[in-house]
Amino acid sequence: MFIFQLWREYKLSIAELLHVFPRGKIVFFNEEVLVLKSLKRDDVLTKAKTLWGTIKIIETLGVDSFEDHILESAARKEGKFSYGISVFGERQNLKSILGWIKSELRDNELSSRYVNKDFENLSSAQIIGERLIPSESDFNIIATGKQSIYWVTIWVQDIETYAQRDYGKKRDMIVGMLPPKLCQMMINISKNPKSKSDNQIVYDPFVGLGTLLIESLYMGNTKVYGSDLNENMVKATRTNLGNIKKENVADFTFDLQNINAKDIEHSKIIKSNKIDAIVSEWYLGEIMTRRNISVERIDTQREILSDLYENFFSGLQNLNYKWSIVICFPFWEMEWKYFYFENIYDILNKYCQIQELFPTYMDLESTKTGSLLYKREKQLVGREIFKLKIK
Ligand SMILES: C[S@@+](CC[C@H](N)C(=O)[O-])C[C@H]1O[C@@H](n2cnc3c(N)ncnc32)[C@H](O)[C@@H]1O
Repeated sequence: MFIFQLWREYKLSIAELLHVFPRGKIVFFNEEVLVLKSLKRDDVLTKAKTLWGTIKIIETLGVDSFEDHILESAARKEGKFSYGISVFGERQNLKSILGWIKSELRDNELSSRYVNKDFENLSSAQIIGERLIPSESDFNIIATGKQSIYWVTIWVQDIETYAQRDYGKKRDMIVGMLPPKLCQMMINISKNPKSKSDNQIVYDPFVGLGTLLIESLYMGNTKVYGSDLNENMVKATRTNLGNIKKENVADFTFDLQNINAKDIEHSKIIKSNKIDAIVSEWYLGEIMTRRNISVERIDTQREILSDLYENFFSGLQNLNYKWSIVICFPFWEMEWKYFYFENIYDILNKYCQIQELFPTYMDLESTKTGSLLYKREKQLVGREIFKLKIK
């Protein structure tokens, strides 16, 4: 069994995991964790690096005695034994657990230190910094009812790598870009759970600087497609993909086209290639601040965006496009209230079927419209994410 510790937008995290591990059987879930069984360890570890919404992955220890296991691990270690303990599920007193284990280790004359600060669960940075994964010494206790289960962390998300990708890369603030991690989640959700191939071929018709395509390649996919209205963006993406070739990324192929998404009906990319999904975001409308946001301005944005999307979806319908589409639309926050891009709902109902993101037995609801929301706390604009099929 594997426990996936979820990110704060836990519904998105769960939707992603269910698409990445369609054969996993759900044992338990709440806002903090999803427990899946019937998965292979190697497969879990290979796919872990492509997950957006999982903070850490924990595997059951299969031991009767938690303290004996820790004592054995400490005895095997030459020198001082560093370890951490985190607790999930019903609230338990981490301070007393840490104290208990520490005295057990001391009584057995084993030199050790726990790395928890202020008796809190460990962060990813602490787990990586203290090298607790290779030493298999980040322990977790998950308490449900009267039972406690003991687990050890086998993978943790390396936030630093993403921070570098997000901010270390040259960015064009005017073009804007999807956050790299969000690209991964959208690509993961675009998968067909019945597909046998792990190679997901995506097409971004608003390719911009190619962030989504680049993330797809980092995930291990070997073919990507993109197009853009602006010729300079097509050139920039070509250069960026060329640069990626020089990095240690597996061999890949790509094709780009200079085309208005309104004319998607004439897209040679769709007509002449096999693609698995369109995954994209156009743009979120003009940037607004707390001072200048207003219902009128939101309405104007909704109208501008609607015109393009009407043409885009009807074009895909005329093309008889059969594969999935994962796309984000903006929603706005004003005076603690969300204003959705309601015009898009009519367009979607006209041309698309909104795909369910969770099996019905999970009793886990997306929004009323079948989407999932992503918004950073301080931002006024968020993203409403849909998985669609053309009618
Ligand atoms: C925010 S960027 C897209 C970001 C990109 N999807 C990524 O992965 O980061 C928006 C892009 O849409 C392009 N664009 C705007 N209107 C378009 C249209 N009608 N058809 C195609 N591309 C368009 C712009 O030139 C710009 O490059």
